[in-house]
Amino acid sequence: MDRQWWQKAVVYQIYCKSFCDSNGDGIGDLPGVMSKLPMLKELGVDCIWFTPIYVSPQVDGGYDVADYYRIDPVYGSMDEFKQMLDMAHSLGIRVVMDMVLNHSSDQCVWFQESRKSKDNPYRNYYIWQPPKADGSEPNNWGNYFREGNGSAWSFDETTGEYYLHQYCSKMPDMNWEYEPLRQELYKMLRWWLELGVDGFRLDVFTRIKKPAGFPDTTKKPDPQLDRNGFVMDGTMCQCREGIHEFIQEMHREVFGKYDCYTVGEGAGVTWENAAGFIDLRRKELDSVYHFQLTSRFAPTFTLEKYRQVQSKWAEQVSKDFWPTQYLSNHDLPRQVSRHGNDGVYRVEAAKLLGTLIHTMPGTPYVYQGEEIGMTNVKYESIADYQDCYTVGEYHSMVANGKDPDVALEALRPLSRDNARAPYQWNATENAGFTTGKPWLKPNLNYQELNLETDRAAGEQSVFAWYQKLIRMRKTEPAILDGDMQFWLEDHPQVLMYTRSCPEQTMLVIANKSGEQSTLQLPEALAGKQWKRLLANRTDLEASLDRPRALAPWEVEVYSMA
Ligand code: GLC
Ligand code: CA
Repeated sequence: MDRQWWQKAVVYQIYCKSFCDSNGDGIGDLPGVMSKLPMLKELGVDCIWFTPIYVSPQVDGGYDVADYYRIDPVYGSMDEFKQMLDMAHSLGIRVVMDMVLNHSSDQCVWFQESRKSKDNPYRNYYIWQPPKADGSEPNNWGNYFREGNGSAWSFDETTGEYYLHQYCSKMPDMNWEYEPLRQELYKMLRWWLELGVDGFRLDVFTRIKKPAGFPDTTKKPDPQLDRNGFVMDGTMCQCREGIHEFIQEMHREVFGKYDCYTVGEGAGVTWENAAGFIDLRRKELDSVYHFQLTSRFAPTFTLEKYRQVQSKWAEQVSKDFWPTQYLSNHDLPRQVSRHGNDGVYRVEAAKLLGTLIHTMPGTPYVYQGEEIGMTNVKYESIADYQDCYTVGEYHSMVANGKDPDVALEALRPLSRDNARAPYQWNATENAGFTTGKPWLKPNLNYQELNLETDRAAGEQSVFAWYQKLIRMRKTEPAILDGDMQFWLEDHPQVLMYTRSCPEQTMLVIANKSGEQSTLQLPEALAGKQWKRLLANRTDLEASLDRPRALAPWEVEVYSMA
């Protein structure tokens, strides 16, 4: 079947701040990225997604953008950006930029103007509301970062009104109802496409449309995290009616005019409503990544849930509907720690999880460090954490009476710093990430776990496994085109599925557990000429002809032509 480039691609996510520092200031930068592009080429990825590298006060890791037209000097100059872009392109790697269109930094000139007076031309770029009669906030919404008194509104003395911020007071929400604001954003998006970037990852795009009249939420406060009667309720501003008009307009004004890939961060997107955003015939977005398997609130997914979610998305796959596959990113814990095993079975588990991602229908995403099986960090003190979620939630919990040690213990596994700790390049000081003082402490395990030691294992390395997975996307037709079917649907430990297209049937067997299991093929699959393509335990028996043991975290991929 004819496929779009981004359907055939593997995307690699770079969190620039933590990737590679070239000048010893402790912060990753574009020259650092350039020095590692050959490594990404070797890995085999087709596209890079850069988390925001625009000018930013870094209240939220760059998602608070102060100037949408400039690269933050800490990462490099615009010339260096163009150099990086050319270099990537010459290696056949495309570049997708993160775009934050729901809010900006309060340092953005648009907001600086907006707050000056009620009749400033930029006033309506943001969402302003008068206080209630008693002077209090316009409603009971809480902010995501648990900042200040907990409210999603901050009072601005100059004009005597409140402005809305779903995240924190330094990240005011933009007013999409106001056409000049929308045109301003479209102009900026076109500017980046003219510069040669290949697409956008759209930050929290499902939250750009707010409910008319800003009604109170009726959700009950969370006794641990909510304070002062302000309730954090993500659904108030999520997937609201009218959002599709905005996205269709953006497609008309921007995406449709270029060869440009768009992937939305789909908070609130499920298999039920996804087509509304990503059916290509609707001319909205190309794809979206959902949270149905990665919600912050469950330690990992059950196999039952995995089968259900993946089947429901897979059912809809067509030339016009294409999912994405990922288990980690800069907002989530390391996948091997959360969904796998970061102890004795770390390498096996890293390979197993990677295999799931790369053999399910959709475009696979690799988050930096995943290709060597990097793990969660465990900082001793709250002072070592930089993630505004972790810090904000910690202070809320302590204010609500939680013991500080207990609060930290509870927040550790979920902190976004797990993913943001510096890339582990080698065993030299600071993991080879910087010659200076890193902005965030490296994981203590970097001497044993780093790219160099991983690759020293040759064919057995996690890196080599990812190379194979990425190559298979080009050589095994079933990965792109195969229908997906689960087998052993009640099995508590083993995931088994086939991908079949006319040219090939692929079979994946994965023991997603730390316990040994037994493998017995269902009758319909038994007695066939299966050829083994991949196995993370090459020391164990490969035969599928009779029941046999499956080791903890064992994964195998077979093919039948
Ligand atoms: C998205 C980003 C996250 C950021 C938030 C607010 O969820 O991935 O890092 O904090 O949006 O911009
Ligand atoms: Ca630097």
